Amino acid sequence: MERSAIMTQLRENMSRAYAPYSKFHVGSVIKSTDGQYYNGCNVENAAYPLGICAESGAIAAMVQNGSREIAEIYIMGDGDALVTPCGGCRQKIREFANAKTQIHICGPEGLRKTFTTEDLLPFSFGPDNLNNDEPKSILE
Ligand code: THU
Repeated sequence: MERSAIMTQLRENMSRAYAPYSKFHVGSVIKSTDGQYYNGCNVENAAYPLGICAESGAIAAMVQNGSREIAEIYIMGDGDALVTPCGGCRQKIREFANAKTQIHICGPEGLRKTFTTEDLLPFSFGPDNLNNDEPKSILE
């Protein structure tokens, strides 16, 4: 998918956010290493802590479809500040990424800044710290 098409999809995902409490709409797109695209938006809840972030939704969609490696992830939100993923989402992204995986932070106008997983979560704890025999891809 071209960058401009990904931006259009991100705007669409933002528009689908359920964010009646924060009124802060976030959209996410993941491209997996097997070339698939997955979408997410934030879904809040009247019991506030139960809300889920856009990135989290896209990761869940990816795993459900059988992909387990993030090639790159896009996040789009409003406002002047960079909508960088929260601490919890950095860890969730890290589970399915490597140190150099790109995390693209976008505003409605387009790409603002690109980080790597390692930039946002240095010295992280991950699957390699555990004896984890589960294959990264279930499609092989
Ligand atoms: N949010 C995301 O979905 N992703 C981010 O990267 C930052 C924050 C959501 C969570 C909550 O629904 C709203 O934005 C305000 O924090």
